[in-house]
Amino acid sequence: MTATASAPQTRETRTPVLSLDAVDKVYKVGTFGSGELRAVRSASLEVHAGEVVSLIGESGSGKSTIGKMVLHLVSTDGGTMRVGGQDVTRLKRGRLRDYYRDVQGVFQDPFSSFNPIYKVDRVFDTVRRSYFPKIRRADWHLKVDDALAAVTLRPEEILGKFPHQLSGGQLQRLLVARALLLDPKLLVADEIISMLDASTRVDVLNLLVELKHKGLGILFVTHDLSLGNYVSDRVVILYRGRIVESGETREVFENPLHPYTRDLLASVPQLDATWAEVEAQEAVRTRRLAGTCVFHSLAPSEPDAAEGLAQVTDGHQVGCFRLGADDPCPRHE
Ligand SMILES: Nc1ncnc2c1ncn2[C@@H]1O[C@H](COP(=O)(O)OP(=O)(O)O)[C@@H](O)[C@H]1O
Ligand SMILES: [Mg+2]
Repeated sequence: MTATASAPQTRETRTPVLSLDAVDKVYKVGTFGSGELRAVRSASLEVHAGEVVSLIGESGSGKSTIGKMVLHLVSTDGGTMRVGGQDVTRLKRGRLRDYYRDVQGVFQDPFSSFNPIYKVDRVFDTVRRSYFPKIRRADWHLKVDDALAAVTLRPEEILGKFPHQLSGGQLQRLLVARALLLDPKLLVADEIISMLDASTRVDVLNLLVELKHKGLGILFVTHDLSLGNYVSDRVVILYRGRIVESGETREVFENPLHPYTRDLLASVPQLDATWAEVEAQEAVRTRRLAGTCVFHSLAPSEPDAAEGLAQVTDGHQVGCFRLGADDPCPRHE
């Protein structure tokens, strides 16, 4: 066995389920598409198997656009997107069906995904027709029962019902079950908790945690920082289409560096921190943030600076604070 083969597989050496490398999205806007809106700028991130990565930012920051690029619902206008190491930035229509075996999405509003005049089971039929046209009836029923069990729904509670007879949480879990029928490697979950009431939110969040323990990679899109904290291993903070900070959830939450992340966190009370701890954290931040942009403390040859994110500690990255400001950082605009 070679040294490389026996080396332990760390997050850094394993092939990510999803990797985005400097992806851009430019929407054509205005009369006859004359204007451009840069919704995502040079975004890079990775999601590994068995990991939840939260993409957090306020409304309009480009979160859903990233999710839609990953799901090939909109094109990617720059950079590279890989799934399981394969370049999937541009896929021919004919390859999409296979792509969706690996990559599935669930969206915000579970009610709009169901046609009110049909029984809810119908959402499974499209998957059967498209992916399992020859499956035996009994085998299909087993498969559906397994997927429902994975989202803790009992078939007898669900099947044969109309959408209005089920709660938002049940419908949302049903959509996750449909995604699971294909045994995907990656799930894009875009604000799937937002429209649920508090009691069913917890069920769906716990479900995501269970699915990640089974090896699924999950890109969890949310505007709600506390949800990101609850489920995710890593967080990626998006502001106006740019990633401004990313890292392990704990590290970013305990030691937020970018002013935008700090603003987001300021509204979440730190119940368990003493005042002395809060002051000590503040002192560390102030030292690290001497000067307005972390890039100014890096050597000019620092390679990460070119990417727009500086590595602060292992895996914790932060962007320039003055991008797009009135007096932009001379190294970045
Ligand atoms: N199809 C589209 N055409 C033009 N602009 C769009 C389109 N979809 C989204 N946008 C714009 O792109 C930006 C990012 O939107 P979005 O990705 O939906 O943000 P988020 O999910 O973070 O709220 C917003 O300014 C939004 O208005
Ligand atoms: Mg959105």
